Amino acid sequence: MVEISEIIEKNIQEYGKDRKALLPILQNIVYEKRYLSEDTLVQVAKSLDISSATVFGTASFYSFLGLEPRGKHLVRVCKTIVCDMNGKDEIMSTLEKTLDIKFGETTGDKKFTLLTTNCLGWCANGPAMLIDDDVYTDLTPDKVIEIIQSYKKERE
Ligand code: FES
Repeated sequence: MVEISEIIEKNIQEYGKDRKALLPILQNIVYEKRYLSEDTLVQVAKSLDISSATVFGTASFYSFLGLEPRGKHLVRVCKTIVCDMNGKDEIMSTLEKTLDIKFGETTGDKKFTLLTTNCLGWCANGPAMLIDDDVYTDLTPDKVIEIIQSYKKERE
């Protein structure tokens, strides 16, 4: 498992000990650790020699950077207008029922977190959702159940 200090160091080497390194550092930490803890944000601030307020502000501005512990799989449903008109509400309620959690929550076994996102660029094939880095389009409630079952069974 990659240490946070290694991630910070690698990005400082690439971008310099500068605010430019902040977003890549936060993105890489989220990629590796799934979320940003308070201690992590303080560590990043110290390493870049910038205020913790700046780091907290950046982390809370970008919705893709999570400040709460998240599940192994991040499920993000597009909430933008085309997917909205094409039935995203039904997709969201199917996910809530299937995983027995609400949006913004993580399953008890820490496998799934439900989130919304803005347009994924697949409007012609909405409703759409992202699970980790994979896009799923033309969603129906049955398709959603099948996709979630496949993550439960095959991807552990
Ligand atoms: S509006 Fe949902 S992918 Fe564009």
